[in-house]
Amino acid sequence: MSEQYNLSTMPVNHQATWSGFYKKSLRERQTQLKLVFPQVFTSSTPASVYVTPDTSPCNSPISVDFSSETNDQNIHSNSVLSDNSKINYLINKLESLSTENNKQIFPINGLDESIADNMIENCIGTIGLPVGLALNFIINGKSIIIPMAIEEPSVIAGVSGAAKTISAYNGFKATTTERNTIVAQVCLLDISQENMNFAVDKIIQNKSEIIKIANKYCDNMVKRGGGVCEINVRRIPRKANRNRNNYPINSDNFMEWLVVHITIDVCNAMGANCASTVAEGVAPFLAELTGGRIGLRIVSNLNVERMSKATFRIPLHMLAYKSLSGKEVAARIIEAYEWAEVDPYRATTHNKGIMNGIDAVALATGQDWRAIEAAAHAWACDGVRIHNDNFQSSNSYGSLTTYWIEKDEQLVTTGKTDDECLMFCGELELPITVGTAGGVLKTNQVYTYNLGIMGNPNAQELAMSMVCIGLAQNFAALRALATEGIQRGHMSLHAKNVAIAAGCPTNAVTSVAQRMIEKGKITLSSAKNIIELYMNEQVNISKNLLSNSLKIEDKFEKVCENLSNSLSNQVQCNIN
Ligand code: MEV
Repeated sequence: MSEQYNLSTMPVNHQATWSGFYKKSLRERQTQLKLVFPQVFTSSTPASVYVTPDTSPCNSPISVDFSSETNDQNIHSNSVLSDNSKINYLINKLESLSTENNKQIFPINGLDESIADNMIENCIGTIGLPVGLALNFIINGKSIIIPMAIEEPSVIAGVSGAAKTISAYNGFKATTTERNTIVAQVCLLDISQENMNFAVDKIIQNKSEIIKIANKYCDNMVKRGGGVCEINVRRIPRKANRNRNNYPINSDNFMEWLVVHITIDVCNAMGANCASTVAEGVAPFLAELTGGRIGLRIVSNLNVERMSKATFRIPLHMLAYKSLSGKEVAARIIEAYEWAEVDPYRATTHNKGIMNGIDAVALATGQDWRAIEAAAHAWACDGVRIHNDNFQSSNSYGSLTTYWIEKDEQLVTTGKTDDECLMFCGELELPITVGTAGGVLKTNQVYTYNLGIMGNPNAQELAMSMVCIGLAQNFAALRALATEGIQRGHMSLHAKNVAIAAGCPTNAVTSVAQRMIEKGKITLSSAKNIIELYMNEQVNISKNLLSNSLKIEDKFEKVCENLSNSLSNQVQCNIN
């Protein structure tokens, strides 16, 4: 019997689809992914059990086909993947089919050495990182699961926990810039002060000619509807009082850097290579126009044209923790953020946490995470932000996130008490330059799978997911730090790493970690002691098993002997 259930019009219960995911074995999680995203993992999903997701992961499971092999009436319902027991049924079913395809290594699995060898110089191998899924995210009303590559435990648990709280209300709102642009910089040198105005005017007057020439160096972007869209000139004072006596170039007579910014619409690409090519290509023309000497020509990784913003708003009571009221927790989180606003020592750690989330998505999806990091920290500096009129803080380097409490005016009209109308709000805004086309994306299949799990986002959608992950991470960290502290939760999750580092055999890692957590001592020496005890126990268990089986064998032999004696007696009797 073959039946098709079209669920496309039904809202999918994302929470139920993924609930208990963390309790499954690695293998079961991989099987679940094959079930939920057969288009992404096509070759390894037997046709007999498949689930067809929509192109958007947010509506992933839309139809399920149970063909003759899966003829169990129990699982025939309209909400197959929104019921966890049914998912588990399908996982077991798929596992038990055990076809050759099914036995294949799951494709989110590192990088082929021969490809790696062609990617960088002096290649000697590759390095692995765990890839996990951040769950519970609802962004702009859509559910999404987000792959993260990170070696640090508790980050994925943290963001998923924060997203669960936020998504239980309205989820995250995210915005990003409409055009995907990047800036190429060309520095022009040796322009004397009296010629500076003339040089600037020349550039402004020749904008369209500059764009025309620059576009020749990014004709692929032009063909896709992008290309150079703006030319700006910046004059930046040179630092005075430098001792340039021994400089081989006499450049004392120029007081300002003349920097031309070429803004390019790079469609869905990250665009760094494109920008640098354009900068090098157009520089001779700029030099000719201005009479300047060509200086550096390179992309700028600070891209304030490509800002992404995430916000959330939840009722205060949702923050209640143990004996602490929601109001108290909210106040503590805001205090924590205010500290990070003015103390660069704290702000660096605070922002590092945000980047735990953002970098991990960047790594999983093949982005230049160094560029994203550099831009984020630049944006955390007043100089850059005040220049863009966005933040007002009195220190040099501060928090990238902002938290506040506000009244929900709509709730006020419903007659709720003042406290019930209070909302806790969080916001993260930063420049994120990413691409989902071009670059290294095609060199490593893992990026393709991870982007596939996200529903093949365009660059803007990817940036929005990343900014939400960053906000979720920071909210999770501050909530934990402001209440019970992070070490208990973190160390419990870290216990397995400590066990591995202490030389624990893979099959004993979970038990050894559990014993360390129970003892409340998660250290290398404690792990070593527990491993030794555990191994001794195992030896004793094996010895006992062996001696029991020897005893059984002994008994069995005795029984056989008795039996054979009595049989031979009987035979003897019969003969007699
Ligand atoms: C740890 O990787 C990140 C945190 O230190 C961030 C923070 O302190 O806000 C927990």
